[in-house]
Amino acid sequence: MALAIEVKRLRKSFGALHALGGVDLEIEAGEFFALLGPNGAGKTTLINIIAGLTLATSGSASVMGHDVVLDYRQARRMLGVVPQELVYDPFFTVRETLTIQSGYYGLKNNEAWIEEILHQLDLVSKADANMRALSGGMKRRVLVAQSLVHKPPVIVLDEPTAGVDVELRQGLWRFIRQLNRDGHTIVLTTHYLDEAEALCNRVAMLKQGHIVALDSIRNLISSVSTCSMRLRLSPDILPTVLQPLMSEREEGFHILTLNGYSQIEDVLAALREEKTCILEMEILQPDLEEVFVTITGTAGVTRAAAFAS
Ligand SMILES: Nc1ncnc2c1ncn2[C@@H]1O[C@H](COP(=O)(O)OP(=O)(O)OP(=O)(O)O)[C@@H](O)[C@H]1O
Ligand SMILES: [Mg+2]
Repeated sequence: MALAIEVKRLRKSFGALHALGGVDLEIEAGEFFALLGPNGAGKTTLINIIAGLTLATSGSASVMGHDVVLDYRQARRMLGVVPQELVYDPFFTVRETLTIQSGYYGLKNNEAWIEEILHQLDLVSKADANMRALSGGMKRRVLVAQSLVHKPPVIVLDEPTAGVDVELRQGLWRFIRQLNRDGHTIVLTTHYLDEAEALCNRVAMLKQGHIVALDSIRNLISSVSTCSMRLRLSPDILPTVLQPLMSEREEGFHILTLNGYSQIEDVLAALREEKTCILEMEILQPDLEEVFVTITGTAGVTRAAAFAS
């Protein structure tokens, strides 16, 4: 079976700026995949190339086996993209926008599916309102709806929940999850890492145009060997030897960053040495956010490393 998305040695330069520096990526059909990275990492550039909206400087990309340049029409049919930027024609109603979009794909008699999408995205009451009369979050719902009119096997959502309220966010994810269960491949970019963690199976992290991590969420999290320990002590004083581990002070609690579970023993020994009592103790697992910070940026691990050395 063809890969949902295949990207080979993809480069994109804007003048002297290398937005993508040779990206290889394979996403299998049926995956729920997250494309993460800080601002300017190249996520939207990559998506735009896959959508045929931007030409790569070199390399290739295909959707369900169709090259996005050589076989543009087929590739485009296979793909629904929710763009990051709000783009819309202010003079059409929501329903007209979706009907016109269906027309682009040569789809007639698409009304039943359009109604279903309107319903799923809670747009029924706005179906006959002009686009310009919608709030920002509503417009984003219409963008999501537009990407789905031709029931594409591959759906790419570029920050679909930016500026969207909690209710829609939950409704949107229910719908997208259902589409994924029905066999659609989903590729999501988001800065809400808890969303990615809850929804996706596999993650690529992009930094300055390069993939710096590519793995399942579970593997990525276990690759970060740090964990945190939340302690309430009596007396409420952290022994000096433990000070380098301290990452945060919450009311009544000391939060330490540890190199791994084995370091728990060191902490307990240091507390015993000082005759400090533990009133409460909690071990916190790393989450995707910590993985992200560790892999793409700075902070976090250095404190625990200092104690270990
Ligand atoms: N049309 C363009 N002309 C010049 N530079 C561009 C253009 N489009 C993108 N860039 C640059 O390419 C880099 C990657 O941008 P891109 O929009 O792909 O990042 P992103 O990962 O989507 O970021 P964000 O999380 O902010 O959406 C940035 O440095 C950006 O300034
Ligand atoms: Mg972007």
